[in-house]
Amino acid sequence: MDMIFRQIRTKQGCQSYMIGCKETCAAIIIDPEISQMEHYQGLATQDGLVLHYLLDTHTHADHFSASKVLAAKMDVPLIMHNNSPAPFVDIRVDDGEMVIVGQLRFRILHTPGHTADSMCVIMDDRVFTGDTLLIGGTGRTDLPTGDPEQLYDSLFNGLLKLNPDLIVYPAHIYSERCHSTLAEEIANNPRLQKTHRDEFVEQMRTLDLKMPTHLTEALRTNLCGGKNVSQLIAEAAKKVSFMAQDEVLRRIQSLHPDMLLIDVREKEAYDQAHIPSAIHIPRGQIELRVNDMLPDPTKRILVYCECGKISTLATATLKEMGFGRAVALDLGICSWKENGYPVEKSG
Ligand SMILES: [Fe+2]
Repeated sequence: MDMIFRQIRTKQGCQSYMIGCKETCAAIIIDPEISQMEHYQGLATQDGLVLHYLLDTHTHADHFSASKVLAAKMDVPLIMHNNSPAPFVDIRVDDGEMVIVGQLRFRILHTPGHTADSMCVIMDDRVFTGDTLLIGGTGRTDLPTGDPEQLYDSLFNGLLKLNPDLIVYPAHIYSERCHSTLAEEIANNPRLQKTHRDEFVEQMRTLDLKMPTHLTEALRTNLCGGKNVSQLIAEAAKKVSFMAQDEVLRRIQSLHPDMLLIDVREKEAYDQAHIPSAIHIPRGQIELRVNDMLPDPTKRILVYCECGKISTLATATLKEMGFGRAVALDLGICSWKENGYPVEKSG
């Protein structure tokens, strides 16, 4: 099969796949992840590929899908299963259907269980198993729309009946490995050793797993297409410049300080310790109080918070309001204190 195949992994073990047809240069990304967006665009350019589709194997609860943003940015349709509740899906597919990318054919196998909209995608000698089947594991069934009975059927009466030589490419890998095969999983995957329905279901019900970090935020953004917090901060950061901590120290200690410092944390935090000469405007009140507190829009303003995230958002807001010389402190007062730089108390 003449294809270009790229497996893209994040530090957390999320796997996504860019598969391109050599002959036509058409490509698809399976399970794109938001932090890899520029990586995908770079790879597509490097490989001479043109994206035709994005496909999510299911509604992810544990990481941020890039689908909505990437689909809009690159003007490509997003494919998901018919059961997906996300309103921004362009093409809804169901069991037995096929997606054609140039000369490559991707067959859809509906495999509910991890979620109601989970599917596996079979292409040539390989199968993209999403979270239905992992290397040495399966997706969990205790998150919204999960169902261990359905997972049993999807595995034992569906996926595991396919050609055992199929190469397994899951949506998560928590080891150094890149892939497995169905035969290998049938033989070695501990969860698949419980081949009776009741035992399998019992095993899934008693796993007692931790809730994934960012569960609600991931569901919110993946279902409704909202932005997550790091996206908001990254967008704000593109609009502002920063000042290093030693530079700020030098300026406030100089004979003629040329900057107004604004602490945008809550009052208790400001009262306990703030950078000398800083005034206090909590971030939530900036828009309402600038007219009284910052009469000179041409003044240079330095904004800081605890760790540098809220101050980035606040600085972007100030710039939008016309304070063209607003800059954000690199990092926050937390590392300012670690540097041993001076702070003051109120009262
Ligand atoms: Fe998942």
